[in-house]
Amino acid sequence: MTQDYILVLYYSRTGAVLEMAKAIAKGVIASGLEARLRTVPAVSPVSEATEAPIPDAGPPYVTKEDLKNCVGLALGSPSRFGNMAAPLKYFLDSTGDLWFAGSLVDKPAAVFTSTASLHGGQETTLLSMMLPLLHHGALIVGLPYTHPALNQTLSGGTPYGVSHFAGPKNQVELSKEEADLCFFQGQRLTECALRLKKEKNKQ
Ligand SMILES: Cc1cc2nc3c(=O)[nH]c(=O)nc-3n(C[C@H](O)[C@H](O)[C@H](O)COP(=O)(O)O)c2cc1C
Repeated sequence: MTQDYILVLYYSRTGAVLEMAKAIAKGVIASGLEARLRTVPAVSPVSEATEAPIPDAGPPYVTKEDLKNCVGLALGSPSRFGNMAAPLKYFLDSTGDLWFAGSLVDKPAAVFTSTASLHGGQETTLLSMMLPLLHHGALIVGLPYTHPALNQTLSGGTPYGVSHFAGPKNQVELSKEEADLCFFQGQRLTECALRLKKEKNKQ
């Protein structure tokens, strides 16, 4: 039997969302589950072009088995015109069989994003990632204002999910509040997954 894990699935072109994914993974591990960090390949204008199955560096590409067997999911993307990036959408569009089988029904899921500008569509990008998750029957886990960083932040951080203001050249590192919220999002997601599993085991 495989160990329960939270899938931290992200796309990142220049590293900002990857930093968030790593910080979320730390929160997952601190709450007692494995964090499985996975990414998706870039998409090409030549639609039949293929990449090597293993990336040159960083976490492996996600498989549908990773998604099917997770007990919870954190989904992250940079903003692309206020929307999730195409490579992540491309992967999600291939998950019709999992949707049909109900593989994500009642699993907790959280979303995270990074943008170049402060008011450049963080919330809309987060919402765009929630839509397919809701269709899949996942339980969306946001961030409550009881966490002090949500009121204190002067950059990213929203009740819809954690966000990061990376600046026009992606030169801005995660602020303390953004990093705290990433960690907390990982913790909260994991605690929800563990509680749901406990309830399910009682039935
Ligand atoms: C085609 C394109 C569209 C983008 N759209 C937005 C946007 O709508 N709002 C914004 O603030 N940043 C936008 N950005 C900037 C990225 O979202 C931002 O640099 C992000 O931090 C990159 O994350 P990454 O380092 O993980 O790739 C866009 C970037 C590209 C290339």
